[in-house]
Amino acid sequence: MTHPTNRIFSGIQPTGNLHLGNYLGAIRNWVGMQKDYECIFCIVDMHAITVPQDPAALRQSTREVTAAYIASGIDPDECVIFNQSTVSGHAELAWILGCHAPMGWLNRMTQFKEKAGKKRDQAMIGLYSYPVLMAADILLYKATDVPVGEDQKQHLELARDIAGAFNRFYDVEYFPLPEPRIFGTATRVMSLRDGTAKMSKSDPSDMSRITFTDDADAIAGKIRRAKTDPEPLPSEAAGLEGRPEADNLVGIYGALAGQTVDEVLAEFGGKGFADFKRGLSDVAVQVLSPITAEMQRMLADPAYVDSILHKGYERANAIAAPNLAEVKELVGFLAR
Ligand code: AMP
Ligand code: TRP
Repeated sequence: MTHPTNRIFSGIQPTGNLHLGNYLGAIRNWVGMQKDYECIFCIVDMHAITVPQDPAALRQSTREVTAAYIASGIDPDECVIFNQSTVSGHAELAWILGCHAPMGWLNRMTQFKEKAGKKRDQAMIGLYSYPVLMAADILLYKATDVPVGEDQKQHLELARDIAGAFNRFYDVEYFPLPEPRIFGTATRVMSLRDGTAKMSKSDPSDMSRITFTDDADAIAGKIRRAKTDPEPLPSEAAGLEGRPEADNLVGIYGALAGQTVDEVLAEFGGKGFADFKRGLSDVAVQVLSPITAEMQRMLADPAYVDSILHKGYERANAIAAPNLAEVKELVGFLAR
């Protein structure tokens, strides 16, 4: 079997509130990989409906994530950009892989446990089997590398396990085992209100995150009101230990400015948070404003955004369809 040697697949759910964690932990890293890899970037709308979504908002968020990818520097001529539900192979492969994934493996997924909470019996099957769909997303394209934030590492290990189980069962080296690519800085951006909680789309407080719809004033306001502690900033990284809010803000500064934590602290060590937050607002606005402005410009022309997705669908499906046909053949499904 032939495998592509370097094909990337990654995705973001169109569930609104796209935030700085998505940018620093995911999208920004993808931009730099376009030259060296064949890239497929998906807007995973089928994952989005694992929790309730308003249909009109889902459509709008799908366009927003698409525009955010492009505004952040992903080239739609080079990369495949499409929404998951348009390529039916994702659902079909997910079914087949689900028949090779023991429940015991899925029971270990911490994200399901967190999202389902105590009411496990009321959680939807889709939320439970979400990591199988994610494995299908990646394996449908025989992707070799998957750039994601730290929170997705467990799901990727499961995708590798499922790929291995499939290969062993049918006694072929069909799927390559996808490598997680988790980048050094800002793999886990934390909430501005609580340095121990992940910055997330679903946090009820909008003050907890900087989003792609915030203008310069909103960004500055959120940073000014971000939780801190009363001590000045330390002069070296070791001094951030036990200070999650300070650690998070310094990490964000470094990721935005392209500096190491030590470099940031060399500049701000010994200073109070008022000074530091002014500096942080400045870099955040400098980096994000051009992106969000371009995104809004694109969203004013939804037909353009939709045309990108349509072209992406055609290119994605052209890779997916023959792979799915091979999988069906291996499984023993009689072709029409
Ligand atoms: P999601 O918002 O769950 O669809 O996540 C989309 C991508 O953003 C995934 O690669 C996540 O790992 C990444 N991501 C989400 N939240 C964060 C965060 N707070 N810090 C770093 N990366 C994140
Ligand atoms: N589950 C991922 C998240 O919530 C999104 C996702 C779906 C994904 N399918 C994927 C990421 C495939 C990488 C590869 O962030």
